[in-house]
Amino acid sequence: MGAGVALAPWLARPARADDPSELHPQPGDRLVFLTGPKKRQIIKPDDLPLGGPQFQAYPQSPDGVLRDGSRLNLLIVIRLDPASLSPTTLANAAADVVAYSAVCTHQGCPVNAWSEEQKMMVCSCHGSTYDPRDDAKLVFGPAPRSLPHLPLKLDAGVLVVAAGFSARLGGETA
Ligand code: FES
Repeated sequence: MGAGVALAPWLARPARADDPSELHPQPGDRLVFLTGPKKRQIIKPDDLPLGGPQFQAYPQSPDGVLRDGSRLNLLIVIRLDPASLSPTTLANAAADVVAYSAVCTHQGCPVNAWSEEQKMMVCSCHGSTYDPRDDAKLVFGPAPRSLPHLPLKLDAGVLVVAAGFSARLGGETA
């Protein structure tokens, strides 16, 4: 590894194809809350306040396997006014909810803070700020690129993964 940024150990660990908890989100997976009073419960759109903040989540297989074996599977879910969304974001939303990778594209910290003033998602490590209305585009900070989005659909009233992530996951490497 050269003079660049070292990959966090949990990001360096390769996913094991034989362990369903380490697989990246699969079409048909549900989303479950990572924390809070509804921890581990399947997320329905009405569980999320309109306009933010974001919540952290993990995918869960239809037969109940939580895919938390890889931290690259950490997700952001946020419910937004559909009139405020860019065409790409709207196309990947379901019931006004959008999902992104929660792993910052700078050095891989969780994007776990919210700017109420800007209505943006913020990485608390070095301040990279992402616009949830415009495909998680970077608007401030050292991150090199947007957060990948995860297309969603609605199935029987719950949020379901419609397709895989839009781009490579994780922080930059050397
Ligand atoms: S790891 Fe997120 S801004 Fe540096």
